[in-house]
Amino acid sequence: MVNQENIHPGFDKLVSRAEREKFLNQRSKVVWMTGLSGSGKTTIAAGLERKLLENGFFAQVLDGDNIRSGINNNLGFSLEDRLENIRRIAEVAKLYLNSGIITICTFISPTIEIRKYAEDIIGSDDFLEIFVDAPLEICEKRDVKGLYQKARKGEIKDFTGITSPYEPPISPTLTLFSGKEPVQVSVQIAFDFIEPLIRK
Ligand code: ADX
Repeated sequence: MVNQENIHPGFDKLVSRAEREKFLNQRSKVVWMTGLSGSGKTTIAAGLERKLLENGFFAQVLDGDNIRSGINNNLGFSLEDRLENIRRIAEVAKLYLNSGIITICTFISPTIEIRKYAEDIIGSDDFLEIFVDAPLEICEKRDVKGLYQKARKGEIKDFTGITSPYEPPISPTLTLFSGKEPVQVSVQIAFDFIEPLIRK
């Protein structure tokens, strides 16, 4: 971190989170989805986002491939770069949270340390960790983006689950068994879990 001596944040002068939540008639949260590439995070999040909007909630997805093509397009997949990826995303998610928005983050976020880092930035009270649990064999068999095949051939280095670690969460807020249940079932389970927490 660079010297903060001459930086004067003035968040307290802006319209407060409580006022924004009142305006939006909801309580904001960060829904943090972790899981292997191809486990279904993005698809479930897209369904959940739509369902939340249809039910009168204001929600927004922040997704790995999208963020990595923009704000984080200078970061790779070493553990150091992944940590910086997640740091920036967690800071952005916190801005969204304070805007009153239900923010759904879909990032592999592969290690316990990385997710703890995100939780510390966002704050435990507002951080809902959802484990999108599809086994590696299934993600690799699906191989929607063809990346596992490339990783096995050595064409992608540091690939999660193959040549880079994935540590499942020890006690996630919720687990979705996306390897065996249809997307719509996972979306409904996530919605039913989250709805009482965001309802005013
Ligand atoms: S994270 O580990 O830093 O959280 P993030 O979710 O942003 O990863 O990006 C993961 C996406 O990047 C994957 O879904 C996949 O499409 C793509 N990708 C490209 N290279 C890799 C790699 N080496 N490991 C994992 N995902 C990769």
